[in-house]
Amino acid sequence: MAKDLAQADLVVAVIGAGTMGRGIAQVCAQAGIATLLYDARDGAVTEALAAVGKGLDGLVAKGRMTAEAQQSTLPRLKPVASLDALASAGLVIEAIVEDLDAKRALFGALEQRLAGDAVLATNTSSLSVTEVAAGCARPERVGGLHFFNPPPLMKLVEVIGGLRSDPALVPALTAFVKRIGKHPVVAADTPGFVVNHAGRAYGPEALRIVAQGIASPREVDLLMKEAAGFRMGPFELLDLIGADVTHAVMQSIYRQYFDEPMYQPSALMATRVAAGLLGRKSKQGFYRYDGAADESAPTVAVTAQPKPAAVWIADEDGGSDLAGMLKAAGIEVTLGGAPAPGALCLVTPLGEDATSAAVRLKLDPKRTVAVDRLGCFKGRLTAMKTPLTAPEALGAAVAALSATGAPVTAINDSAGFVVQRLLAMIVNVGTRIAELRIATPADIDTAVELGLNYPKGPLALGDALGPARVLAVLDGMQAVTRDPKYRATAWLRRRAQLGVSLLTPD
Ligand code: NAI
Repeated sequence: MAKDLAQADLVVAVIGAGTMGRGIAQVCAQAGIATLLYDARDGAVTEALAAVGKGLDGLVAKGRMTAEAQQSTLPRLKPVASLDALASAGLVIEAIVEDLDAKRALFGALEQRLAGDAVLATNTSSLSVTEVAAGCARPERVGGLHFFNPPPLMKLVEVIGGLRSDPALVPALTAFVKRIGKHPVVAADTPGFVVNHAGRAYGPEALRIVAQGIASPREVDLLMKEAAGFRMGPFELLDLIGADVTHAVMQSIYRQYFDEPMYQPSALMATRVAAGLLGRKSKQGFYRYDGAADESAPTVAVTAQPKPAAVWIADEDGGSDLAGMLKAAGIEVTLGGAPAPGALCLVTPLGEDATSAAVRLKLDPKRTVAVDRLGCFKGRLTAMKTPLTAPEALGAAVAALSATGAPVTAINDSAGFVVQRLLAMIVNVGTRIAELRIATPADIDTAVELGLNYPKGPLALGDALGPARVLAVLDGMQAVTRDPKYRATAWLRRRAQLGVSLLTPD
């Protein structure tokens, strides 16, 4: 039976005093727990404790911690110079290098030194907890506590049981996470757990959009922030985390799911890593951070045109919403029926590209422009051309959309525009996590909100957009591209067919 991690005199040992370990140790000490900190590298613990001290000073200066709390926290953090000094620990949290052999060797050495009921937890983000545990004499006391960077600020901790964990271990670790003031989400031992799995949509799909010349990184970021309400665009996020780290995670999850097309990494990213364009840490990524001019020409040049007096809009999903917007901007609108000869034709497809919509509706592709109305978001609008759309028609469409007061981004033809593609993929991957029983539907959403800072969890996002519309986007994308990465999950399809929330359990 695993140790009771709620005991007042519990001693926690954190191993590895790097980015994560020092933050985890700080969190434990702040929660009133005696915390030992060990690192194999000489001087690492001293540096870590100095950094924690500075961090606490900052909290006091900002009024987020009292001087008394700071005074009581620091003495609870004890540097330790050898594994032999960890015998009193009831819980060890390992945050060393991300290497299976190193973690197994460490746990093997710890097993010989700790009490029989001590619990061993790994902070791994990409290895299997079960595989780490399999190197132990007693795998039943090994679990995962996956913190997020930086641990003092990030509320979420994923709690993972290995296949051979004691059934009491996950509840004990969950209670411990609450004890240190964090929000636990229980995740099955699967590649990327919940958060790093759910994150396999936003970046990779955005990279595909850019690789296909549909829009630039800056244009994609603006659309996701100003139309879809994300706090950071996918390329800002890639630059923040670093191309090398992101590319490694993409490859690892793709491989661990045996080349599942949905998680296919980006060749564009591989060359950028080779070029050292890593993001903020190398001062240049998709954006520049070295003070140099950071301009990029629009992907699709728009010829300025006067606001058109009249437009024709296809009477399909989102069409009447667009008609209302344009009428309010003083434009005469014909909704449905046959377009007048020479009329500018606006279509609002779900998952289709502008070309397919024009051909299906028997419109002149030279006069056709598609507008993204999934979600009917307020904010930046997308105008998407076919390869044949005349510059005057695109210019007139942009002028009409601009008359609504919203900024407009013109893009090349893409099944699912930019926003539809990214949102539908986020929802689809979220439903795959639910389908694979990795976490409860509610916990998937909580983990994504807290761990990825998206405005909504993927299942609630799908509900807000409408499961049937998200399904239509994915089916459209798959029909146009014939690419299996866009196939909708059965979880999504079933709930869309039944007209119920994506959070509905089986
Ligand atoms: P880091 O490189 O900043 O720190 C690792 C520390 O472990 C170093 O100080 C190193 O000297 C020490 N170390 C290495 N081997 C050791 C051993 N055998 N015994 C004792 N100490 C040893 O790494 P970071 O970023 O803190 O990552 C640590 C773990 O946390 C990894 O498993 C990583 O995948 C995971 N993680 C990292 C996140 C991040 O954003 N950096 C987020 C969540 C998990």
